This record gives sequence, C-alpha cells and structure tokens, in this order.
Amino acid sequence: MDGTPTQRFARCITASKRVRWDLETDVIRGRRFDLTEKFLPDGLTLAGAVPFLAPGERRYFSQVQGRTYANMFGLVERFINAKVLELSRDHWFGDQTALEALIRFSDEELKHQALFRRVEMLIGEAMPAGYSFSWEPNDVAGTVLSKSSWAVLALTLHIELFTQAHYRESIREEAELSELARDVFRFHWKEECQHAVMDELEWRRVDASTTAEARDLAVDELIELVGAVDSIVTVQAEADSRYFVATCGRQFDAATAAAVAQTMLAAYRLQYILSGARHPHFAATLASMTTEPQLARIGAALSALAPPAMLNAA
Ligand SMILES: [Fe+2]
Ligand SMILES: [Fe+2]
Repeated sequence: MDGTPTQRFARCITASKRVRWDLETDVIRGRRFDLTEKFLPDGLTLAGAVPFLAPGERRYFSQVQGRTYANMFGLVERFINAKVLELSRDHWFGDQTALEALIRFSDEELKHQALFRRVEMLIGEAMPAGYSFSWEPNDVAGTVLSKSSWAVLALTLHIELFTQAHYRESIREEAELSELARDVFRFHWKEECQHAVMDELEWRRVDASTTAEARDLAVDELIELVGAVDSIVTVQAEADSRYFVATCGRQFDAATAAAVAQTMLAAYRLQYILSGARHPHFAATLASMTTEPQLARIGAALSALAPPAMLNAA
C-alpha cells in the first residue's frame, strides 16, 4: 500500500467526494425494471450451465437472481456499517482523517442499503408473487458481529472486492443487461472502491495488535463466517429455484428442476463467496497476514464449496 494510513484515508475522502452520487437523481432517474431485460449478467448467473432454458427463461433466471442480489446486499451492508462505526471509535481522539473517511464510509453504506431496498421494491413490482427472502439483516448482523474484528474485516474486504469483480462482469459485452441494473453495479462500485481500501487499512491496523493465538482463532471464525454465508445462500438458492420453476410458465421434469437448483446454488456461491475469495487482492492481503497452515485451512473450506469444474473458471 502506498503512503501512510493517514494519506490513504485522505485519498479515500477525496475520491468519496468526487464520485458521490444520489440514489434517485443519479441512479434510479425515474426508471423501472423491464422484464424484457436481464438483471444480472450470465457470467454471474451461470445461465450457460442450464442450456435447456429458452432465451426468455434465461432472462427470468437472471431476474430472480438479481432480486436476491439486492436482498443479499441489504443484508451484508447492515453489519458492515455497524462494524465501521464500531471501529471508528478507535479514531475518535486520534487520526481525524481516518475518522472522517470512516464516517463517509458509513454514510455511503446507509445509502447503499436504501438503494438495494429501492431495487428490491422496483423488481418486486415487476415480478410474480411468491418470491421470498426470509433473512433479517439485524439477525445476521448479530451472528457476524459476535466474531472478532479480524474475521469480520476479512469477510468485509472479500465482499467489497467482489462488488468490483461483479461490476467488471456487468460491463462485459452483455447486450441484454438492463441499463438500470448496470447503473446499480456502476454506482455501487464507484463508492466500494474506497471501502475496500479502508477495509484493508483497518484490517491491517487490527492485525498489528492481534496475537498469534488470537489470529489463529480468528482464522477459524472467518471459516465459520464463510460457512454462515454458505448456509444463507444454500437456503436461498433452494427457495429461488422453487420460485423460478413454479413461476417460469412451463413444466420442468425432476432432472431439469434439479439442474436449475444446482446451478442457482453454484451461482450464489460464485457471487457471494468465490468471486471474493479468488479476487487477487483479497488472496494477497489474506496471505500477507496468515501462515501457510492457516491459508490451507481456509483453502480447504473454500474448495468444498466449488464443484471441480468451477475451481479454474472465472
Ligand atoms: Fe455498499
Ligand atoms: Fe461498501
């Protein structure tokens, strides 16, 4: 990382001021989601793995996943914001630049939660009844925040880096992707770039005062947190694939319905776990703060989530 933490926080403030956007006037701009367009790119939905879906059904496959994407971000940004506010306490009477940068981070994360609630509402208007997302942001935050800051910051950096990977995926040539969805990715990405820098600064600061024993426990907590994310996406993939099959407008036999469910789960694991874990900057940062055996423990937990064919993809 170039420069002192204060210089880096100062650059985050400058960038945050430069890119700042308004939810309605910059992102939504009076638009609605159109069911003739995709809400997530094929690279994230893994639609290529269900070739028996007709083009309209592929679009619907992306719309169901897009709705869950909005809900998942509503979920994770609740605990991210609470953790940032908690960490800001360490700077109250210290580095005022760090404090200002983290307060902006928190303010942006509150806005992002509002953005994703707005997106869920707009998608909800357009889609058939029966969708459900039963996770409560405060319950999930309670579980996550019971772990050490080291583990929560590792999970957070991984999330804030995967939003950047998803943005890149959304700007690949994907003619059918909704412009509104692409803007959601783009505007979110603009502010998440700074968040990822600050996650790393704070993670390194916390790491510097962590003993080897505490770090070893924190590695296990990180593995537990990834397991908790996996439990959430496993249940949600089941709910979403049932909803998809029930509302898609045609009969599925048992084998195709199972392929839909399997692909949905693989897509959610890619979106919420593997695209962050595989992010080169996440991998390098994690490696710089852990031992070989600790990295191997994390790697083993992750490889259990990826079907062999996906390990080398993306
Ligand atoms: Fe965000
Ligand atoms: Fe963020």
